[in-house]
Order: sequence, then C-alpha cells, then structure tokens
Amino acid sequence: MKHITILAAALLVAVMPAEARKAKKFTHQTVEIPAVEPQSIVIETAGSQLVLAVTTDRNLVLRHYGAPVKDAGQFTHMDTGRGNGAQAYPAAGGTFLGQAALHVKYADGNHNTELRYLSHSVKASGGVKTTEIVLKDYVTDLQVKLVYDAYRKENVICSHSEIVNGGKKAVELLEVASSSLTLEADKYLLTHFHGGWAYEMQTARELLDFGTKVIESRRGTQTTQTENPSFLVSLNTGEFSETSGEVVAGALAWSGNFRLSFEKDETGLVNVLGGISPFASAYPLKAGETFVTPEMIWTWSADGAGGASRNLHRWARQYGIYGGGTVNPTLLNSWEGAYFTFTTPTLTGMIDDAAAMGLEMFVLDDGWFGTKYPRNSDKSSLGDWDLCTDKIPEGIDYLASYAHGKGLKLGIWIEPEMVSRVSELAEKHPEWVVQSPGRALYEARWQWVLDLANPEVQDFVFGIFDKTMQLAPGIDYIKWDCNRPVYSFGSPYLGTEQDRFFVEYVQGLYSVMRRIREKYPDVLVQCCSSGGSRLDYGAMRWCNEFWTSDNTDAISRSRIQYATSMIYPACAMASHVSAVPNHQSGNVTPLKMRFDMAAAGRLGMELQPKNLTAEERALAYRCIKSYKGFRDLVFTGDLYRISSPLDSDYYAFMYVSEDKSRAVMFEFCLRYQNRATGGHLLRLAGLDPSRKYLVTEQNVDTSCWWGNGQSFTGDFLMSGGFNPVLNGSNASAIFVLAAR
Ligand code: GLA
Repeated sequence: MKHITILAAALLVAVMPAEARKAKKFTHQTVEIPAVEPQSIVIETAGSQLVLAVTTDRNLVLRHYGAPVKDAGQFTHMDTGRGNGAQAYPAAGGTFLGQAALHVKYADGNHNTELRYLSHSVKASGGVKTTEIVLKDYVTDLQVKLVYDAYRKENVICSHSEIVNGGKKAVELLEVASSSLTLEADKYLLTHFHGGWAYEMQTARELLDFGTKVIESRRGTQTTQTENPSFLVSLNTGEFSETSGEVVAGALAWSGNFRLSFEKDETGLVNVLGGISPFASAYPLKAGETFVTPEMIWTWSADGAGGASRNLHRWARQYGIYGGGTVNPTLLNSWEGAYFTFTTPTLTGMIDDAAAMGLEMFVLDDGWFGTKYPRNSDKSSLGDWDLCTDKIPEGIDYLASYAHGKGLKLGIWIEPEMVSRVSELAEKHPEWVVQSPGRALYEARWQWVLDLANPEVQDFVFGIFDKTMQLAPGIDYIKWDCNRPVYSFGSPYLGTEQDRFFVEYVQGLYSVMRRIREKYPDVLVQCCSSGGSRLDYGAMRWCNEFWTSDNTDAISRSRIQYATSMIYPACAMASHVSAVPNHQSGNVTPLKMRFDMAAAGRLGMELQPKNLTAEERALAYRCIKSYKGFRDLVFTGDLYRISSPLDSDYYAFMYVSEDKSRAVMFEFCLRYQNRATGGHLLRLAGLDPSRKYLVTEQNVDTSCWWGNGQSFTGDFLMSGGFNPVLNGSNASAIFVLAAR
C-alpha cells in the first residue's frame, strides 16, 4: 500500500484566526490509495499512437502522441525526469499547479480534486476503437470518464470527458475541458484562424512562448467570429510546412462559447486544453448528474500541415459532416441578385436562368415571409414565418413545382433562432427573448436572440423548420442562418441559474437539430451565420455544408478558403459566383476567376442572371458543365495544397482521387509581377509517380500551358515539368488530370 500524506490541512491551521482554530481541530492526515501495477493504455490509429500510462499511485499520465511504436509498453516505466510527467486530464487541486482541465468547487467550498485511475475498457466497432478510462477523486465521489475514439484509417482520435457527480450534494464545474494533450518539442508554431464578418478564417501564425495563449469565443451563438475553434501546431520548427514535419491539429465540436488554451510551462512543455469556455458558466452539477463535454478532434501527422488536413478531411467526410462526401447540387441563391425586392416573376425568371445555365437548385433567401409585418428589409418580421403573399401570392408550392418542372430542386432560407423587435412573435412572447432583467435589450441587425435554453422555445424553433418544410412538397434544402451574437445574456426561463445559459443554449440547439434529423434525414441543411460565423464540427454533425463567407470576392476567398481547408473539407464549403464590383469588397475580378474559385467547393451562383451578357452566360454554362465533370474529386478527393495565397503571388492546390487515377488542379495568379520570368513552375503532389496522366485545361479555347492535351508521368508533373503561364493578376486555370 502506498500512502499520500496531506500536509495542507495542517498548514491551514497556522493561517486561521485563533477562534476558528479552537472551533475546528485539524489533524495531520494520511490517505491510503491502493497501489496498482503500472501499465500503458495504447490508443492508436494506422499512423499515430497516443500512449497513456497508469503509475503505481494511480496517476494517469500522457507518455506519447506521435508515430506508432511497436512495443508501446516500453513507455510504462519511462522516466520523464519530471516526476510522473504530464497528467492526461489535470484537475485543479493537490500538487497540480498548471492549467487545469477540470476545476470543481464542492458544496463545502473546497476546490481540490485529485483524480486517480479506477479502471478502463476497450470496445471496437467498424473502424473505430473506443477506450474509456474511469478516474475518481480520491476523497469525494466525483468520477471522470475519459472517452477516446480512435478512427484507424483516418488517423483521428476524438476525445471527450464525462463528469459524474456521485456525491450527495451539488458541485460547480468552474472549468471543464473536453480534452487535454501535452506536447514536448523544441519549438511550437501555432497556426490559428481569426476573423469577422466578410473576412472569416484569416490565418495567424505565432511561436508559442512561455505563458498561456488563449483562443476563445464569448459570442454565445456565433462560434467562429473572432476565432475558429481549431488550430495546428507544427513541432520542432519555426517555419510552417505544408509537406514535412510533425503537426498536431485539433478542433472542438461545439457551437457556442469555447476556449482553446496553450500553456507553455517552466519546463518547456505545452499543455493544450480544448473545451467549452468557462466564461459565466460555473455549471451546477446536481447529485447523480453527469456532464458530457463536446468532442475534441485530434490528429497527428509527420507530413506537415497537408497530412494533418487530409486526415481531418477524411474523418469529416466519413463521420464529422452530415452526409459528408456525397455530391451536393449546384445552385442559384436569390440573395445578392434580389435581396428583399422580388415577386413571383422575379423568382421564376431566376429559376429559368438557373436551369438554362445548367444549375441544379434554386434557393429562395431572406424576404419571403411576414404578413402583418412583411419582411421588406432586415428591420422586421423574424419570428413570423408565414408566407408574405404580397410577394408570392401563388404560394411556395407553386414556386416548388415551377422549379421541379425545370428540373431544379428548391431551397429556402430561415433564421429560426431570432426575433425582430418589429414582429408578431415579439409582441406575443417577449419572455422568449434572451435578456437580463432591468438592462438594455440591445438589438443587432434590429433583432434579438430567442432563448433556446427554454424547451418551449426549442419546440417553437423546431416548429419553424417543420412548418417551412410543409410549405410545399419537395423542399430539398434549408439555409439556416444566425445573424447575431448574444448581448446582456440571460434566460428568463433559467431564473437564478444563469450559469447554465451558454451551455444549455447550445444543447437546446442540438436537441432541435436532432429532432429535425429524425424527421427529415434527407433534407440538405446549410449552416450559415452571417456567412461563416458558425463553422465548427458541432454544427456540422447536423448540416451538410457551411456558408463560408458573405464575401464572395475571389481574391478575398483565396485566403478564406485556403485557411478553411486546413481543418474543414471542400465537400462542405459552399462557394458562390457573384456580381462585380463585389458587394462586400468592391473588387472587380474576371468571371472566369470567380467560377474557378467557386469550383473549389460546392459551386453556386448568387447574382441576378439577367445582368449577365450573352457571352458571360455562355461562359457560366461552360464552367458549370465542366465542374460537373470533376466535382466528385472536390467532394471526395484528397487535398494537396501546392502554394499558399499568404506566402506566394500564386495560389494553387489540387484534389486527387483515393486511387490516384484522377485529379483536378487549380491555380490563381493573385499578384502578377512581370512577364520576364515566364511560366510559373509548380510541383504537383499526390500523384502516382509512374502513371501517365492526360492533362486537360478547362473552360478555355487556348491553354496557358504548353503541354495541354498531352500525357505526362506523375513524377514529371511532381518534379518540375508543370509551368503554366498565368499572365496577369486574377488570371486562373483549372486542369483535369486523368491516368491513362
Ligand atoms: C446573412 C447571410 C446571407 C443572407 C442574409 C439574408 O447575412 O450570411 O447569405 O442570407 O443573411 O439576410
């Protein structure tokens, strides 16, 4: 038996006032913890390995995350030179002084938790192996279950924690991370993604130094304005590499306040924690209750950022995105082409044009609802989801059958979590609005947030979706928007338990989504939030695609889509061709460049086709047709980024089929410098070196590459034979490669 001596109680006596000292008698305590045989718990995928070790005194420590080691048992007795080493899920209390994954306050006011290993189990199903490890505080009845799902083929490990209050009194979860991972390297280069409306997913890179770097959102509804809950850490280097070196990437599946923190301690280790933000969320966990944290998705690769992204993409297509990896239809969206000003002929005209250009769906965006208060601007009507018959007297069913008659599917926009100040709903249910008693009810875009922590509101929000689906038979697509964050947070429903609000808002949202998917498994859902403000793997579990940004300028999109591709796959990245000058940036780019950029994701258009010239329509038809020929590669292929829009005048990347028999390659000249340097040499990637590929440029009569229409071996293309001439800023090219 091993004994742990608690000296803290004795020390406290010395600093307590004399009276208190008299009242309470502190004794020098010893606590007996039965020792165990040390062992390693190995969690592995085809190309990575996470090794946890149970020490004699039942600490669960992390020993390795990296390349698989054949005999991982060798890690069991590893002397780290740092005592037990890095805790697998550090709790605040005892001798632990770093950033804690778990910080609990007990009913008696105590803040100490010391988790010790109890047991673990492993089960496998398909390509996923689940390891569950149970830890327990050695004094209270608080238990923690750590769950690790290892996706063998995809090289991804998802991990979350479940906190069980087995005691008789409620406790407060002051901090509760999903997962903790400690890294050891000479240098740590962090890549993360910041941004705001119309400039989402901007790349930031910085070396992690001593102290703590925090990436956080406190917007309540909009996860990803300011920061995306994802990152990459390149190890042992200060240089970002697409192709080589060890990279650990992580993403949190949560659509609300989150926090990712990276603490470099005095010994040079970096502890990474990912989870729900503790901001105003000291969650009360009653006796007998369990708190389940969201999934943290991890991957490790020795092939640089490119390898890490491909792992995440493969996992996301298979498990992380609703309906991931299936080809979704091209579409025309009414927003930038009509905004709020339309009647039935405007829409049927757009449907005619969409069909003529070869598009496959028409999406009716904002502005179709409101009877007492018709939605003619963003100043009213959210909450009143009845058709505005002034605009579409024939009904949505007429529009649906008109679209179907032209061979198009129909989609429709809703923003169900919101209510306009000017609306019948606000008049009827002011108590459903998120608010703090006696404080200003701040509007944003003239609207308020509905309190999704309230089950009645959840029913209402589900009802909006349900009712919209009933507007016509054959509604194939819903664009779900969410255009503002939470201010002066407060749930009238939760009364004095406001600490639950941020967590229960998101849980309420997911419960609505679950009901929607039970009833409508096949409808396509786009996750939109003023563009890409809710881009996270929590929302994507329910949604087929995300609206990447309201900014559809091809120049801006090069940076946004590049960064998005680090974590999220192209199959879900909605990307539209819009008018010039661009409505967000004012930039003017060629129509071909706009098509080529949009073809890197789920291609759509968002403009009034009537404003296109005959020549432009012909180009649109051609580009859409060619896209349909290679889009399966966009939806299912492996991404290889070739040159970055951040570091190069050229942005280039390709998608390669799993069997390497086909590929599509994109190149954009973002800043043309001179014509003396000739063609821009690109080294393609991901091809089979020995196979010959027929290379065909798309959508042009005269190719920008001398070898167009000929076949070349993969090694030639990958080793410096491919040098198309993009002679001008905003010139672009798409090449399809087919093995012969
Ligand atoms: C948000 C979306 C846009 C559009 C408008 C409609 O800004 O991001 O795509 O749907 O709302 O109001």
